[in-house]
Amino acid sequence: MSSENNNFTAWAGVENGKPLTQVELTLKQWDENTIEMDVTHCGICGSDVHTLDENWGPTDYPCVVGHEIVGVVTRVGKNVTNLKVGDRAGVGAQSGACHECEPCLEGQENMCQGGIVYTYSSRWPCGDKSYGGYADKWRGDYRFAFKVPDNMTSEIAATFFCAGITTYAPLKRSNIIPGKSVVGVMGIGGLGHFGVQFAKALGAKVVGISQNDSKREIALELGCDDYINASDEASMAKYNSGLTHIICTGTSPDFQWHTYFALLKVNGHFINVSAPEWQFPGMSAFTLLSKQIKIYGSGIGSPKEIEEMLAFAAEKDVKPWITTYKMSDVNKAIEDFRAGKPRFRFVLEN
Ligand SMILES: NC(=O)c1ccc[n+]([C@@H]2O[C@H](COP(=O)([O-])OP(=O)(O)OC[C@H]3O[C@@H](n4cnc5c(N)ncnc54)[C@H](OP(=O)(O)O)[C@@H]3O)[C@@H](O)[C@H]2O)c1
Ligand SMILES: [Zn+2]
Ligand SMILES: [Zn+2]
Repeated sequence: MSSENNNFTAWAGVENGKPLTQVELTLKQWDENTIEMDVTHCGICGSDVHTLDENWGPTDYPCVVGHEIVGVVTRVGKNVTNLKVGDRAGVGAQSGACHECEPCLEGQENMCQGGIVYTYSSRWPCGDKSYGGYADKWRGDYRFAFKVPDNMTSEIAATFFCAGITTYAPLKRSNIIPGKSVVGVMGIGGLGHFGVQFAKALGAKVVGISQNDSKREIALELGCDDYINASDEASMAKYNSGLTHIICTGTSPDFQWHTYFALLKVNGHFINVSAPEWQFPGMSAFTLLSKQIKIYGSGIGSPKEIEEMLAFAAEKDVKPWITTYKMSDVNKAIEDFRAGKPRFRFVLEN
């Protein structure tokens, strides 16, 4: 089966503040590294909303967001080695890299410094715009498309490609010791709910840290061993110097380092994966010195880490909690996402 049709239909952001609109656009030019698929599912990530709202800078409209994409492959270029027509494939937030810079050569393509292509709001080396998965088709580089394991449904698989990998990769790299590490997960949303499950699966005790008490019951049901209501002093004080790691998936503009460093043990890790539109605040040198805290960030994950995550998730039965919406109900899904309703991820279905 092959398709010579270069057009596709998408739900695109056309202007800041306007609902997504169904439009016809042109797929990237074909080359022999390219695969094309019929999109069946696409998760809704916080980054989609940041982009539509121009939180990180001007958006080049029309913009088709969506980077938790699963579909059925309909066409493959001659160089494609990992997928064939009829396979189910998944694509995350990255669709291309230079394959020549130091991070790329070391297998950290997600840190490519020579020309990273994001799945949307970015440009392919040929100059074409990249478009995400709120659409009927996706076309892009096979090196960032992954075969969906046979034992995973497509709607379950989709959210691993951004929310899953963004939490799996840093937790896997951060020296979690089974039975000893105590991981706080800040923000129990799409990323956070994967963070809870991956930290548990890596053998840690897990404490959910949320803005208020509204998610207490569901966080425990999700697998948290305990729960901190960050707006309650007594709840925070219970974990004074109690955590070895914090993975931060969400903060408010009044975030202060010392409030959360108080929760960390000496030599603790503060891992940030959140991407708010505001700046993190400053801190006194002593805030940093006094517990030898390691602060670091992490962006998505490499192709190798994505493959590793899919195998690890299958082995440990890590599964997202999702609600599906019809693709044509995307505007309602985004409205509900903005209202903080996901428990814990929304997936659009064609
Ligand atoms: N590093 C990366 O590569 C990467 C990849 C994907 C996404 N991201 C970024 O990660 C962030 C989370 O994405 P997501 O898809 O998980 O979003 P999400 O489902 O909305 O979850 C974010 C969570 O953060 C907490 N939160 C939200 N607003 C807050 C506020 N004003 N104050 C305190 N806490 C707040 C909430 O948790 P509680 O209700 O439990 O407090 C919320 O559920 C976004 O900024 C996104 O752009 C980064
Ligand atoms: Zn994302
Ligand atoms: Zn590179």
